[in-house]
Amino acid sequence: MMSLENVLPDSAEIDSQGQLSIGGCLAVDLAEEHGTPVYVLDEATIRNRCREFVSEFNRLYPGTQVLYASKAYINPALARIFNEEGLGLDVVSGGELAVAQAAGFPLEKVYFHGNNKTPAELEEAVAQGIGRVVVDSFHELDLLNRIAGEAGKVQDILVRVSPGIDPHTHAYTTTGIIDSKFGFSIQTGDAERAIRQALGAANLKLRGLHFHLGSPIFELEPYEAATDLVLRFAAGFREEGLDLEEFSPGGGFAIAYTRDQEPPSVADYAGAIVGTMESTCEELGLSRPKLLVEPGRSIIGPAGVALYRIGAIKDIPGVRKYVSVDGGMGDNIRPALYQASYEVISAGKGNASATETVTIAGKYCESGDVLASDISLPTAEPGDVIAIPASGAYCPSMASNYNLNPRPPMVLVNDGHSRLIRRRESYADMMLCDV
Ligand code: LLP
Repeated sequence: MMSLENVLPDSAEIDSQGQLSIGGCLAVDLAEEHGTPVYVLDEATIRNRCREFVSEFNRLYPGTQVLYASKAYINPALARIFNEEGLGLDVVSGGELAVAQAAGFPLEKVYFHGNNKTPAELEEAVAQGIGRVVVDSFHELDLLNRIAGEAGKVQDILVRVSPGIDPHTHAYTTTGIIDSKFGFSIQTGDAERAIRQALGAANLKLRGLHFHLGSPIFELEPYEAATDLVLRFAAGFREEGLDLEEFSPGGGFAIAYTRDQEPPSVADYAGAIVGTMESTCEELGLSRPKLLVEPGRSIIGPAGVALYRIGAIKDIPGVRKYVSVDGGMGDNIRPALYQASYEVISAGKGNASATETVTIAGKYCESGDVLASDISLPTAEPGDVIAIPASGAYCPSMASNYNLNPRPPMVLVNDGHSRLIRRRESYADMMLCDV
Protein backbone atom coordinates (compact mmCIF):
# COMPACT_ATOMS: atom_id res chain seq x y z
CA MET A 1 0.00 0.00 0.00
CA MET A 2 2.04 2.95 -1.30
CA SER A 3 -0.35 5.40 0.25
CA LEU A 4 0.00 8.52 2.37
CA GLU A 5 -2.65 7.01 4.62
CA ASN A 6 0.13 4.74 5.85
CA VAL A 7 1.73 7.62 7.68
CA LEU A 8 -1.18 9.92 8.54
CA PRO A 9 -3.20 9.81 11.79
CA ASP A 10 -6.50 7.91 11.69
CA SER A 11 -8.63 11.06 11.57
CA ALA A 12 -6.55 12.89 8.94
CA GLU A 13 -8.17 13.94 5.69
CA ILE A 14 -7.16 15.89 2.64
CA ASP A 15 -10.24 17.64 1.26
CA SER A 16 -11.09 18.51 -2.32
CA GLN A 17 -9.23 21.82 -1.97
CA GLY A 18 -6.12 19.96 -0.87
CA GLN A 19 -6.44 21.09 2.76
CA LEU A 20 -5.07 18.71 5.37
CA SER A 21 -7.18 18.29 8.50
CA ILE A 22 -6.46 16.28 11.62
CA GLY A 23 -9.11 15.47 14.20
CA GLY A 24 -11.50 17.64 12.21
CA CYS A 25 -9.23 20.70 12.51
CA LEU A 26 -7.61 22.29 9.47
CA ALA A 27 -3.84 22.12 9.74
CA VAL A 28 -3.39 25.66 8.41
CA ASP A 29 -5.82 26.95 11.08
CA LEU A 30 -3.93 25.10 13.82
CA ALA A 31 -0.71 26.65 12.54
CA GLU A 32 -2.33 30.10 12.59
CA GLU A 33 -3.83 29.71 16.04
CA HIS A 34 -0.86 28.13 17.83
CA GLY A 35 1.99 29.40 15.71
CA THR A 36 4.65 27.19 14.15
CA PRO A 37 6.36 24.89 14.70
CA VAL A 38 3.58 23.03 16.47
CA TYR A 39 3.05 19.34 17.16
CA VAL A 40 -0.51 18.14 16.61
CA LEU A 41 -1.54 14.89 18.29
CA ASP A 42 -4.66 13.05 17.15
CA GLU A 43 -6.43 11.77 20.25
CA ALA A 44 -8.37 9.19 18.24
CA THR A 45 -5.17 7.63 16.93
CA ILE A 46 -3.64 7.48 20.41
CA ARG A 47 -6.72 5.81 21.85
CA ASN A 48 -7.16 3.49 18.85
CA ARG A 49 -3.56 2.32 19.11
CA CYS A 50 -3.89 1.76 22.88
CA ARG A 51 -7.07 -0.25 22.31
CA GLU A 52 -5.49 -2.22 19.48
CA PHE A 53 -2.57 -3.27 21.70
CA VAL A 54 -4.85 -4.13 24.62
CA SER A 55 -7.33 -6.08 22.52
CA GLU A 56 -4.96 -7.87 20.13
CA PHE A 57 -2.69 -9.12 22.90
CA ASN A 58 -5.51 -9.96 25.29
CA ARG A 59 -7.45 -11.79 22.59
CA LEU A 60 -4.52 -14.18 22.19
CA TYR A 61 -3.19 -14.02 25.74
CA PRO A 62 -5.68 -12.83 28.37
CA GLY A 63 -4.20 -10.81 31.20
CA THR A 64 -1.52 -9.09 29.08
CA GLN A 65 -0.59 -5.71 30.53
CA VAL A 66 0.32 -3.03 28.01
CA LEU A 67 2.79 -0.48 29.38
CA TYR A 68 3.23 2.75 27.45
CA ALA A 69 6.92 3.59 27.03
CA SER A 70 6.91 7.20 28.26
CA LYS A 71 10.23 8.00 26.62
CA ALA A 72 8.41 8.22 23.27
CA TYR A 73 6.64 11.30 24.74
CA ILE A 74 4.68 11.89 27.90
CA ASN A 75 3.05 14.74 29.74
CA PRO A 76 0.31 14.77 32.40
CA ALA A 77 -2.59 15.11 29.92
CA LEU A 78 -1.35 12.09 27.98
CA ALA A 79 -0.66 10.09 31.14
CA ARG A 80 -4.32 10.53 32.06
CA ILE A 81 -5.37 9.20 28.64
CA PHE A 82 -3.13 6.14 29.02
CA ASN A 83 -4.61 5.53 32.46
CA GLU A 84 -8.14 5.79 31.05
CA GLU A 85 -7.19 3.23 28.41
CA GLY A 86 -5.98 0.80 31.08
CA LEU A 87 -2.30 0.99 30.22
CA GLY A 88 0.57 0.98 32.69
CA LEU A 89 3.73 3.01 32.16
CA ASP A 90 7.38 2.32 31.51
CA VAL A 91 9.45 5.21 32.91
CA VAL A 92 13.20 5.69 32.65
CA SER A 93 13.88 8.63 34.94
CA GLY A 94 12.74 10.44 38.03
CA GLY A 95 11.31 13.07 35.68
CA GLU A 96 9.04 10.63 33.88
CA LEU A 97 8.02 9.17 37.24
CA ALA A 98 7.21 12.68 38.48
CA VAL A 99 4.91 13.21 35.48
CA ALA A 100 3.13 9.92 36.24
CA GLN A 101 2.70 10.99 39.83
CA ALA A 102 1.52 14.50 38.91
CA ALA A 103 -1.12 12.95 36.67
CA GLY A 104 -2.37 10.71 39.48
CA PHE A 105 -1.24 7.63 37.59
CA PRO A 106 -1.54 4.42 39.67
CA LEU A 107 2.12 3.88 40.53
CA GLU A 108 1.70 0.14 41.03
CA LYS A 109 1.32 0.01 37.23
CA VAL A 110 4.60 1.83 36.65
CA TYR A 111 7.79 -0.04 35.69
CA PHE A 112 11.12 1.71 36.15
CA HIS A 113 13.75 0.98 33.48
CA GLY A 114 17.25 2.26 32.85
CA ASN A 115 20.86 1.14 32.89
CA ASN A 116 21.99 3.66 35.50
CA LYS A 117 19.19 4.81 37.76
CA THR A 118 20.61 7.14 40.37
CA PRO A 119 20.37 6.44 44.10
CA ALA A 120 17.98 9.42 44.42
CA GLU A 121 15.75 8.07 41.63
CA LEU A 122 15.60 4.63 43.23
CA GLU A 123 14.84 6.12 46.64
CA GLU A 124 11.98 8.18 45.18
CA ALA A 125 10.62 5.19 43.29
CA VAL A 126 10.69 2.90 46.33
CA ALA A 127 9.22 5.56 48.63
CA GLN A 128 6.39 6.24 46.16
CA GLY A 129 5.51 2.58 45.85
CA ILE A 130 6.46 2.01 42.22
CA GLY A 131 5.17 -1.28 40.82
CA ARG A 132 8.40 -2.77 39.54
CA VAL A 133 11.99 -1.79 39.16
CA VAL A 134 13.55 -3.46 36.13
CA VAL A 135 17.06 -4.08 37.40
CA ASP A 136 19.80 -3.65 34.83
CA SER A 137 23.16 -4.07 36.63
CA PHE A 138 24.92 -5.68 39.61
CA HIS A 139 25.46 -2.18 40.98
CA GLU A 140 21.71 -1.62 40.94
CA LEU A 141 20.94 -4.98 42.56
CA ASP A 142 23.08 -4.01 45.56
CA LEU A 143 21.88 -0.42 45.66
CA LEU A 144 18.19 -1.22 45.38
CA ASN A 145 18.39 -4.01 47.94
CA ARG A 146 19.94 -1.55 50.40
CA ILE A 147 17.48 1.26 49.58
CA ALA A 148 14.46 -1.03 49.92
CA GLY A 149 15.84 -2.35 53.21
CA GLU A 150 16.31 1.16 54.56
CA ALA A 151 12.74 1.99 53.58
CA GLY A 152 11.53 -1.17 55.35
CA LYS A 153 10.12 -2.53 52.09
CA VAL A 154 10.48 -5.52 49.81
CA GLN A 155 10.65 -4.12 46.25
CA ASP A 156 9.20 -6.13 43.37
CA ILE A 157 11.66 -6.33 40.51
CA LEU A 158 12.19 -7.77 37.07
CA VAL A 159 15.69 -8.55 35.85
CA ARG A 160 16.56 -7.26 32.39
CA VAL A 161 18.45 -9.84 30.40
CA SER A 162 20.18 -9.38 27.08
CA PRO A 163 19.49 -12.33 24.80
CA GLY A 164 22.18 -11.57 22.23
CA ILE A 165 19.79 -11.30 19.30
CA ASP A 166 20.12 -8.65 16.63
CA PRO A 167 16.80 -7.07 15.56
CA HIS A 168 18.38 -5.46 12.46
CA THR A 169 17.65 -1.84 13.19
CA HIS A 170 19.83 1.28 13.58
CA ALA A 171 22.99 0.65 15.66
CA TYR A 172 22.07 3.54 17.97
CA THR A 173 18.78 1.91 18.88
CA THR A 174 19.90 -1.72 19.06
CA THR A 175 19.98 -2.95 22.65
CA GLY A 176 19.64 -6.72 22.96
CA ILE A 177 23.02 -7.70 21.51
CA ILE A 178 26.13 -8.65 23.46
CA ASP A 179 27.88 -5.32 22.87
CA SER A 180 25.32 -3.19 24.69
CA LYS A 181 25.23 -1.19 27.90
CA PHE A 182 21.78 -2.61 28.67
CA GLY A 183 20.85 -5.70 30.60
CA PHE A 184 22.57 -8.79 31.93
CA SER A 185 23.96 -10.85 29.10
CA ILE A 186 22.83 -14.44 28.96
CA GLN A 187 25.90 -15.41 26.88
CA THR A 188 28.48 -14.13 29.35
CA GLY A 189 26.86 -15.71 32.40
CA ASP A 190 25.95 -12.34 33.92
CA ALA A 191 22.24 -13.06 33.67
CA GLU A 192 22.67 -16.30 35.58
CA ARG A 193 24.61 -14.55 38.34
CA ALA A 194 22.08 -11.72 38.48
CA ILE A 195 19.16 -14.10 38.95
CA ARG A 196 20.93 -15.91 41.80
CA GLN A 197 21.81 -12.61 43.43
CA ALA A 198 18.25 -11.31 43.03
CA LEU A 199 16.77 -14.50 44.47
CA GLY A 200 19.07 -14.17 47.47
CA ALA A 201 18.43 -10.45 48.08
CA ALA A 202 16.46 -10.00 51.30
CA ASN A 203 14.66 -6.84 50.22
CA LEU A 204 13.92 -7.70 46.61
CA LYS A 205 11.24 -9.98 45.18
CA LEU A 206 12.07 -11.24 41.69
CA ARG A 207 8.80 -11.38 39.73
CA GLY A 208 10.14 -12.14 36.28
CA LEU A 209 12.37 -11.30 33.35
CA HIS A 210 12.48 -8.54 30.78
CA PHE A 211 14.33 -7.99 27.53
CA HIS A 212 14.19 -5.32 24.86
CA LEU A 213 15.87 -5.88 21.51
CA GLY A 214 15.83 -2.43 19.96
CA SER A 215 13.58 -0.07 18.06
CA PRO A 216 12.00 0.10 15.55
CA ILE A 217 11.92 -3.61 14.66
CA PHE A 218 10.30 -4.43 11.33
CA GLU A 219 10.75 -8.21 11.67
CA LEU A 220 8.87 -10.75 13.77
CA GLU A 221 11.60 -13.35 13.87
CA PRO A 222 13.83 -11.57 16.44
CA TYR A 223 10.90 -11.43 18.89
CA GLU A 224 10.22 -15.14 18.37
CA ALA A 225 13.85 -16.16 18.74
CA ALA A 226 14.43 -14.03 21.83
CA THR A 227 11.16 -15.06 23.50
CA ASP A 228 12.06 -18.71 23.04
CA LEU A 229 15.63 -18.22 24.23
CA VAL A 230 14.71 -16.23 27.36
CA LEU A 231 11.94 -18.64 28.37
CA ARG A 232 14.32 -21.60 28.01
CA PHE A 233 16.88 -19.71 30.04
CA ALA A 234 14.29 -18.95 32.77
CA ALA A 235 13.16 -22.57 32.94
CA GLY A 236 16.69 -23.53 33.96
CA PHE A 237 16.23 -21.70 37.29
CA ARG A 238 12.98 -23.28 38.42
CA GLU A 239 14.73 -25.52 40.95
CA GLU A 240 16.57 -22.53 42.34
CA GLY A 241 13.29 -20.81 43.09
CA LEU A 242 12.70 -18.61 40.03
CA ASP A 243 8.95 -18.45 39.58
CA LEU A 244 8.49 -16.62 36.28
CA GLU A 245 5.32 -14.70 37.11
CA GLU A 246 5.96 -11.96 34.55
CA PHE A 247 7.64 -11.90 31.17
CA SER A 248 8.32 -8.84 29.01
CA PRO A 249 9.68 -8.81 25.47
CA GLY A 250 9.87 -5.00 25.67
CA GLY A 251 8.75 -2.66 22.91
CA GLY A 252 10.22 -1.66 19.58
CA PHE A 253 7.15 -2.19 17.38
CA ALA A 254 7.62 -0.37 14.11
CA ILE A 255 5.49 2.23 12.34
CA ALA A 256 5.50 3.55 8.79
CA TYR A 257 7.46 6.78 8.42
CA THR A 258 7.26 6.81 4.65
CA ARG A 259 4.41 5.72 2.44
CA ASP A 260 6.24 2.66 1.16
CA GLN A 261 6.88 1.16 4.60
CA GLU A 262 4.71 -1.72 5.74
CA PRO A 263 5.54 -2.73 9.31
CA PRO A 264 3.85 -5.77 10.83
CA SER A 265 0.47 -5.09 12.43
CA VAL A 266 -0.08 -5.23 16.19
CA ALA A 267 -1.86 -8.54 15.59
CA ASP A 268 1.23 -9.85 13.78
CA TYR A 269 3.53 -8.92 16.68
CA ALA A 270 1.05 -10.37 19.19
CA GLY A 271 0.77 -13.58 17.18
CA ALA A 272 4.54 -14.01 16.97
CA ILE A 273 5.21 -13.35 20.66
CA VAL A 274 2.23 -15.25 22.04
CA GLY A 275 2.66 -18.15 19.62
CA THR A 276 6.26 -18.61 20.75
CA MET A 277 5.35 -18.24 24.43
CA GLU A 278 2.66 -20.87 24.15
CA SER A 279 4.75 -23.42 22.32
CA THR A 280 7.89 -22.93 24.40
CA CYS A 281 6.02 -22.91 27.73
CA GLU A 282 4.19 -26.07 26.74
CA GLU A 283 7.35 -27.84 25.65
CA LEU A 284 9.12 -26.94 28.89
CA GLY A 285 6.12 -27.51 31.15
CA LEU A 286 6.48 -23.90 32.27
CA SER A 287 3.36 -22.28 33.69
CA ARG A 288 2.33 -19.32 31.59
CA PRO A 289 3.69 -16.02 32.94
CA LYS A 290 1.79 -12.78 32.74
CA LEU A 291 2.83 -11.01 29.53
CA LEU A 292 3.90 -7.37 29.53
CA VAL A 293 4.54 -5.35 26.37
CA GLU A 294 5.99 -1.84 26.18
CA PRO A 295 5.01 0.00 23.01
CA GLY A 296 5.96 3.67 22.80
CA ARG A 297 6.55 4.70 19.20
CA SER A 298 3.73 2.57 17.82
CA ILE A 299 1.16 4.32 20.03
CA ILE A 300 2.13 7.98 19.83
CA GLY A 301 4.21 8.05 16.63
CA PRO A 302 1.39 7.78 14.09
CA ALA A 303 -0.75 10.23 16.10
CA GLY A 304 1.65 13.13 15.69
CA VAL A 305 2.00 15.62 12.85
CA ALA A 306 4.53 18.44 13.02
CA LEU A 307 3.54 21.69 11.32
CA TYR A 308 6.13 24.20 10.16
CA ARG A 309 6.00 27.37 8.11
CA ILE A 310 8.26 27.88 5.14
CA GLY A 311 10.54 30.93 5.18
CA ALA A 312 13.70 31.32 3.16
CA ILE A 313 14.13 29.37 -0.07
CA LYS A 314 17.56 28.98 -1.61
CA ASP A 315 17.91 27.50 -5.05
CA ILE A 316 21.40 26.42 -6.05
CA PRO A 317 21.02 25.68 -9.76
CA GLY A 318 22.01 22.15 -10.62
CA VAL A 319 22.81 21.38 -6.99
CA ARG A 320 19.88 21.59 -4.60
CA LYS A 321 16.91 23.68 -3.54
CA TYR A 322 16.81 24.37 0.18
CA VAL A 323 13.40 25.17 1.63
CA SER A 324 13.88 26.35 5.20
CA VAL A 325 11.26 26.03 7.92
CA ASP A 326 10.90 27.57 11.39
CA GLY A 327 11.80 24.40 13.31
CA GLY A 328 14.35 21.67 12.70
CA MET A 329 16.79 19.58 14.66
CA GLY A 330 15.76 21.20 17.95
CA ASP A 331 12.30 19.67 17.72
CA ASN A 332 13.20 16.66 15.54
CA ILE A 333 16.73 15.35 15.84
CA ARG A 334 15.88 11.99 14.28
CA PRO A 335 17.01 12.71 10.69
CA ALA A 336 20.33 14.09 11.95
CA LEU A 337 20.85 11.35 14.51
CA TYR A 338 19.51 8.24 12.78
CA GLN A 339 19.25 9.30 9.13
CA ALA A 340 15.48 8.93 9.62
CA SER A 341 13.24 9.63 6.62
CA TYR A 342 9.87 11.37 6.69
CA GLU A 343 7.10 12.28 4.30
CA VAL A 344 6.47 15.99 3.82
CA ILE A 345 3.04 17.28 2.84
CA SER A 346 2.05 20.78 1.87
CA ALA A 347 -0.77 21.33 4.40
CA GLY A 348 -2.71 23.68 2.16
CA LYS A 349 -1.83 22.25 -1.26
CA GLY A 350 -2.19 18.58 -0.43
CA ASN A 351 -3.62 17.52 -3.75
CA ALA A 352 -1.59 19.77 -6.03
CA SER A 353 0.84 17.72 -8.03
CA ALA A 354 4.45 17.70 -6.97
CA THR A 355 6.38 20.07 -9.15
CA GLU A 356 9.79 20.21 -7.57
CA THR A 357 12.37 18.30 -5.61
CA VAL A 358 13.44 20.17 -2.51
CA THR A 359 15.33 19.65 0.72
CA ILE A 360 13.59 20.77 3.89
CA ALA A 361 16.13 22.46 6.12
CA GLY A 362 15.62 23.70 9.66
CA LYS A 363 16.59 27.06 11.18
CA TYR A 364 19.42 25.77 13.37
CA CYS A 365 23.02 26.77 12.86
CA GLU A 366 24.21 23.44 11.51
CA SER A 367 24.45 22.16 7.98
CA GLY A 368 23.21 18.80 9.25
CA ASP A 369 19.94 20.41 10.29
CA VAL A 370 17.88 18.86 7.52
CA LEU A 371 14.43 17.36 8.13
CA ALA A 372 13.96 15.72 4.74
CA SER A 373 16.27 15.45 1.75
CA ASP A 374 15.23 15.55 -1.88
CA ILE A 375 11.49 15.17 -1.46
CA SER A 376 8.78 16.18 -3.93
CA LEU A 377 6.46 19.07 -3.13
CA PRO A 378 4.01 21.28 -4.96
CA THR A 379 5.78 24.60 -5.63
CA ALA A 380 6.92 25.82 -2.21
CA GLU A 381 6.45 29.46 -1.27
CA PRO A 382 7.32 31.42 1.85
CA GLY A 383 4.38 31.30 4.25
CA ASP A 384 3.23 27.81 3.20
CA VAL A 385 2.54 25.40 6.03
CA ILE A 386 4.12 21.99 5.66
CA ALA A 387 3.21 18.91 7.65
CA ILE A 388 5.53 16.08 8.66
CA PRO A 389 3.50 13.04 9.72
CA ALA A 390 4.57 10.18 12.00
CA SER A 391 6.24 12.74 14.27
CA GLY A 392 4.59 11.93 17.59
CA ALA A 393 7.30 9.67 18.97
CA TYR A 394 10.82 10.72 19.99
CA CYS A 395 10.59 14.16 18.33
CA PRO A 396 9.08 16.29 21.12
CA SER A 397 10.56 13.99 23.77
CA MET A 398 14.09 14.46 22.40
CA ALA A 399 13.62 18.16 21.68
CA SER A 400 16.20 20.63 22.94
CA ASN A 401 16.67 24.35 23.31
CA TYR A 402 19.64 24.35 20.96
CA ASN A 403 20.35 27.87 19.67
CA LEU A 404 17.88 28.86 22.42
CA ASN A 405 14.86 28.22 20.30
CA PRO A 406 11.76 27.61 22.44
CA ARG A 407 10.39 24.08 22.22
CA PRO A 408 7.06 23.87 20.35
CA PRO A 409 3.60 23.54 21.83
CA MET A 410 1.65 20.26 21.79
CA VAL A 411 -1.97 20.37 20.65
CA LEU A 412 -4.40 17.49 21.07
CA VAL A 413 -7.13 17.37 18.44
CA ASN A 414 -10.37 15.41 18.40
CA ASP A 415 -13.78 15.78 16.76
CA GLY A 416 -13.20 19.27 15.47
CA HIS A 417 -11.76 20.55 18.76
CA SER A 418 -8.17 21.36 19.63
CA ARG A 419 -6.73 21.51 23.12
CA LEU A 420 -3.34 22.87 24.05
CA ILE A 421 -1.70 20.30 26.34
CA ARG A 422 1.67 22.01 26.43
CA ARG A 423 2.23 25.66 25.55
CA ARG A 424 5.17 26.95 23.57
CA GLU A 425 8.16 27.77 25.73
CA SER A 426 8.90 31.44 26.24
CA TYR A 427 12.28 33.15 26.35
CA ALA A 428 11.70 33.54 30.10
CA ASP A 429 11.16 29.76 30.43
CA MET A 430 14.54 29.19 28.85
CA MET A 431 16.23 31.48 31.40
CA LEU A 432 14.29 30.13 34.39
CA CYS A 433 17.17 28.04 35.65
CA ASP A 434 19.91 30.58 35.02
CA VAL A 435 21.20 32.01 38.27
N1 LLP B 1 11.08 -0.70 26.41
C1 LLP B 1 12.38 -0.40 26.57
C2 LLP B 1 13.16 -1.04 27.63
C3 LLP B 1 12.98 0.54 25.72
O1 LLP B 1 14.27 0.82 25.86
C4 LLP B 1 12.22 1.15 24.71
C5 LLP B 1 12.82 2.14 23.80
C6 LLP B 1 10.86 0.82 24.61
C7 LLP B 1 10.32 -0.12 25.47
C8 LLP B 1 9.95 1.45 23.61
O2 LLP B 1 10.33 1.25 22.30
P1 LLP B 1 9.32 1.70 21.15
O3 LLP B 1 8.10 0.85 21.29
O4 LLP B 1 8.99 3.12 21.38
O5 LLP B 1 10.01 1.48 19.89
N2 LLP B 1 15.07 7.64 20.10
C9 LLP B 1 14.96 6.48 19.22
C10 LLP B 1 14.26 5.33 19.91
C11 LLP B 1 14.91 4.93 21.21
C12 LLP B 1 14.17 3.82 21.87
C13 LLP B 1 14.66 3.61 23.24
N3 LLP B 1 14.02 2.57 23.94
C14 LLP B 1 14.23 6.91 17.95
O6 LLP B 1 13.88 8.08 17.82
O7 LLP B 1 14.02 6.09 17.06
